[in-house]
Amino acid sequence: MNLHKSVLRKGGITIALLLLVACASTKNESRIIADFNPDWNFKLGDYPTAIQVDFEANDWRTLDLPHDWSIEGTFSKDHPTKPRQGALPAGIGWYRKSFTLPESAKNKSIAIEFDGVFCNSEVWINGHYLGKRPFGYISFSYDLTKYLNFGNQKNYIAVKVDNDAQPSSRWYTGSGIYRNVRLVTTDKLHVAHWGTVVTTPEVSKEKATVDYSVSIQNDSDFSKEFKVVTNILDANNRSVARLESIEKIDANAILEKGQKFEVNNPKLWDTDNPNLYKVVTKIYEKSTLIDDYETPLGFRYFAFDAEKGFSLNGVPTKIYGVCLHHDNGALGAVANYHAIKRKLTIMKEMGVNAIRMAHNPPSLEMLQLCDEMGFIVQDEVFDVWKKKKVTNDYHKYWDEWHKRDLEDFIKRDRNHPSIMMWSIGNEIREQFDSTGIAITKELAQIVKSLDKTRPVTSALTENVPEKNFIYQSGALDLLGFNYKHADYATFPERFKGQKIIASESVSALETRGHYDMPTDSIRFWPIKHDAPFDGNADLTVTAYDNIASYWGTTHEENWKAAKKYDFIAGTFVWTGFDYIGEPDPYPYPARSSYFGIVDLAGFPKDVYYMYQSEWSNKTVLHLLPHWNWKQGQLIDVWAYYNNADEVELFLNGKSLGSKAKQGDELHIAWKVPFEAGTLKAISRKEGKMVKETEIHTAGEATKIDLKSDKTSIKNDGYDLAYVTVSLQDKDGNYVPTADNLINFKVSGGAKIVGVDNGYQASLEPFIADYRKLYNGKCVVILQSNKKAENITLEATTAGNINLGTLSIKVE
Ligand code: GAL
Repeated sequence: MNLHKSVLRKGGITIALLLLVACASTKNESRIIADFNPDWNFKLGDYPTAIQVDFEANDWRTLDLPHDWSIEGTFSKDHPTKPRQGALPAGIGWYRKSFTLPESAKNKSIAIEFDGVFCNSEVWINGHYLGKRPFGYISFSYDLTKYLNFGNQKNYIAVKVDNDAQPSSRWYTGSGIYRNVRLVTTDKLHVAHWGTVVTTPEVSKEKATVDYSVSIQNDSDFSKEFKVVTNILDANNRSVARLESIEKIDANAILEKGQKFEVNNPKLWDTDNPNLYKVVTKIYEKSTLIDDYETPLGFRYFAFDAEKGFSLNGVPTKIYGVCLHHDNGALGAVANYHAIKRKLTIMKEMGVNAIRMAHNPPSLEMLQLCDEMGFIVQDEVFDVWKKKKVTNDYHKYWDEWHKRDLEDFIKRDRNHPSIMMWSIGNEIREQFDSTGIAITKELAQIVKSLDKTRPVTSALTENVPEKNFIYQSGALDLLGFNYKHADYATFPERFKGQKIIASESVSALETRGHYDMPTDSIRFWPIKHDAPFDGNADLTVTAYDNIASYWGTTHEENWKAAKKYDFIAGTFVWTGFDYIGEPDPYPYPARSSYFGIVDLAGFPKDVYYMYQSEWSNKTVLHLLPHWNWKQGQLIDVWAYYNNADEVELFLNGKSLGSKAKQGDELHIAWKVPFEAGTLKAISRKEGKMVKETEIHTAGEATKIDLKSDKTSIKNDGYDLAYVTVSLQDKDGNYVPTADNLINFKVSGGAKIVGVDNGYQASLEPFIADYRKLYNGKCVVILQSNKKAENITLEATTAGNINLGTLSIKVE
């Protein structure tokens, strides 16, 4: 199902009903997927009577989903969430929505789909209890059909969300209905929820075979005869294979129909060319189309090898991966297609080809985008099993829910071609005792019963084989190790014949734009987790890649180790982006992580360019730090570069000599006494210039510069523009040290939904019309407010600095 197109672009229930009418005129009353996000009422607190039909929600706030109430709060060290979860409020909240349905929907089946509610959601329709889902990352649906009213009589849906018992996680979770909600109307005879399974048993450039099965559900009290037509469509919607058959189904039954296809000369899916197809099943009763269901399909084959690592379509491919948590920075947990696309675009530019979904089921948009943009996915389901990590985490629900949640996770995700590994858990406590054996076997068996095409893995920390009971179970197809880079050389001996991936690595620490010198040694933060870190008073960590956690190492050291051994299929760096929570190594007011290659606002830290020089095919020559220091101060100048034999550095036109990386080095460095002006680097290959990079000393700021990542946005209530704010001097030089408070005013078709500057210890709110620059930058996030008016953003600051203005078109 293509969610972005089918869900986000439709403007709510009204449009959905119009569609119903429009479709009726062409006798096409097939599946209607209506955006059910707009116009909910919300209130913090516990209101059990809100389930009643006559409940008055007059003083409740009106808002559109997806919504995260935690991100709206103010930071405090006293919140029960604590800084490890972002120091933002949690608690209980209720959502309520009223809606009507046309008489014509009376003989339909109607279900509501929630992509994710954090957490412990309970749902009622017209006073009837539909159920509970404790796991905050799982997607679920309820059949509403028998409780609904039609015509003028209203329906009331109420959702209780209970994230009160804290701590509930090791990182920021968000609270609320933070992912999309849809209302799905089908004929009584329809494809069941998550009702298709598509696999490609044989794939080559010449030919592929497709095994497809579709579950067709008959909710009516009559048996039926119908026609099933399945087409495989290429990217241009041309059918490349087709099958049809006449079927019979009993009343209130489900029929599983298997179909096999052959496709000649399939365009293969890979990370550079993510060619997609789709399987479209149409159901006809007599000659009327009554359902129309899409499943994504990609033709690719892959293998993990104990000696050679990973290959995709027969091509040896190192996995250049990052781990990502689910939050979207200043938007909190809110799942927004455009925010996720920006995140993945920044990763793609860096050369990343794989994402590990740490440590929970991701949003559907995330998986859709990984299919479309070409990322290999390690999809992960749990951070804990039966043994807890924090008091109120998922272990409380393990016994009752793990089977159902794991099954639902696989059923929802298994058709995504980007997914190539199932991880059943991260750093699970049960690896350390014999209970791990039985649980691993059980979970692996559940996965295999639903999908045999991908290896089952788990992210392990114990690398002494006899001591690791998850490994001892023998049920893993692929061993994931977190960290342990220093032991890689011993792995083939320790884990004979096993396939291995670095499921998590690095955990180095950096603050964007902050530089401490000298940089001659690598420092680890203290050997004891609880020992205070003798860091900086302003809670910064230098952006030179030379401070790491004791269980990890620097980016460079990790990458050197991972690239050295072919049997390491690849590495998933902790993390691609900073995330809210886990602010190691500092106490409050630090409240977001330092581990990201990119900061929370989306601005790359310098080490981003080390990866770009190694992982992408872009030509890189990046200099750090900035060039605003004190006269005579000795500055460590680093350069990341590629595609060249050497780099020559010049200060104000004077050569400081050429250098080249030696051995396995990943950067070169000079010590340069500071002098204001221009620092320039030229990289050369065989004497010919490859690239030139200059940085300048900035004078006093004279104006605010605004740069949007988009020149136009859609008028759909969802589209976003990210505007980077910085200061420039009279010559247009960027001022890297500016920390001015900037005020924003927006008019026309957008509202401000978030501001951030990437500083991990900022206590300014994420939702505001102001933000201080941090090390020269901040971002303001604009979201369509559905008005069809062009947008003007104005930014002002105190002093003699000209305002910045920017226009964005609305389409
Ligand atoms: C790992 C863990 C991650 C994160 C990371 C921080 O051990 O799997 O979730 O906590 O440490 O370094």
